[in-house]
Amino acid sequence: MTNISVVGLGPVGLCSAVAFATQGHRVIGFDIDTSRRDQVSRGEPPFYEKGIREALRKVLRAKRFSVVDTMDAAIEPAAVVFLCVGTPSREDGSMDDGGLRAATKSIAAAWRDGKRRTVVVKSTVLPGTTDNVVRPILEASGRPFRLGVNPEFLREGRALEDALRPDRVVLGADGPETARILKSLYRSAKCPVLATDLKTAEAVKYATNSFLATKVAFADELANLCDALGVSYDEVHKGLGLDSRINPRFLVPGVGFGGSCFPKDVRALVSAGRRHGVEPRLLEAVLAQNEVQYLRAIAFLEEELGDLNGKRIAILGLAFKGDTDDIRETRAFPIARSLLSKGALVVGYDPLAGPAFSKVVPEVKVVDSVKEALAGADGTILQGDWPAFSRLTAKDFMTMMATPVVVDGRRILDPKKMRGVRFHRIG
Ligand code: UDX
Repeated sequence: MTNISVVGLGPVGLCSAVAFATQGHRVIGFDIDTSRRDQVSRGEPPFYEKGIREALRKVLRAKRFSVVDTMDAAIEPAAVVFLCVGTPSREDGSMDDGGLRAATKSIAAAWRDGKRRTVVVKSTVLPGTTDNVVRPILEASGRPFRLGVNPEFLREGRALEDALRPDRVVLGADGPETARILKSLYRSAKCPVLATDLKTAEAVKYATNSFLATKVAFADELANLCDALGVSYDEVHKGLGLDSRINPRFLVPGVGFGGSCFPKDVRALVSAGRRHGVEPRLLEAVLAQNEVQYLRAIAFLEEELGDLNGKRIAILGLAFKGDTDDIRETRAFPIARSLLSKGALVVGYDPLAGPAFSKVVPEVKVVDSVKEALAGADGTILQGDWPAFSRLTAKDFMTMMATPVVVDGRRILDPKKMRGVRFHRIG
């Protein structure tokens, strides 16, 4: 059992904290946001994540997890401190390390005794950040410390499951003793554990997300080409997946990728490459392709309905994917804005993300059910892959909509079952 403190209680911090506590560690959480601290300590997760509410309440009740109100109270008992603060994009796409700097300074200020602690960066940071940003701040404090990097690979919607049962663990350490401490935290993990230096662990995270984003952008482009060449993407995908060197996963084409990681991390890597004299042409193309992919969905609507001015268009799914309430970089933004600019009346529905989406694009009429969204609609774009959307039938579209024009932007419906619907999907 290790005394762990987690600084930053966003999806990554909270899921990691709850997972460590579930595995028997004694975990303390801290966040600079007072209302977030209050919510978490009451057993109310500040975001939707499958299973997190029950798991959080369980570890709170068992007193294996508690939330404290000061950084001092978080640092004092800790042997290992995880930094789980956000590293958002700046205007120019580069990584903003402001939150990381501030949190590290606050840890250093709260470190009042001479006890040696291990500080582990879980935030996604560019290679070199732990050494160049975190290390000097801790060194200036004069406290004895060890440094680690432990990137997260949590998928939103399955983050707790991924934290409890990872399929790989990457541990960057500044020396053998740190590596030993980090390995002991993952003793129960039944998966490969890769021990590296700090910079390599940081790089593995960017390599992974850039590759996955590239796969999605490749699938999107390939599906566009399949359409142009009159070939079925499904069959091509099957054939592609039969090559043992190509994993068929993450090759589902649609309206492009969004979320809190792929766009931001690819942009940060491109920006870092340019600063270091490398022009990352492939990753620039991935971003450029992703920027315009949603236009294919709009084009299908125009093909079917002509001028969209005055047409009622429903967007199903406003979060960046199903099973989450996260609207960060959701493709529903450019889809909605493009439809609005063409004079369409845009109606949106999402099982969880409606209120958050409304605040950003108030011109979209957000409603409370699929039925309300589709009622009288001239066309719809399925932007989110919620299971409830995949159960929609041809009859649903034909009875609810004014004209059953359906663009499946996430490949969740079976075209063979869409008889009578003017059905489109990419590829
Ligand atoms: C991702 C990584 O998977 C995770 O390991 C990392 O830690 C954080 O980023 P997440 O952002 O939760 O997780 O979503 P993910 O399920 O990976 O999907 C990202 C985006 O790609 C979504 O917009 C999704 O709709 C899109 N996508 C994914 C596709 O368009 N096609 C695919 O085949 C897969």
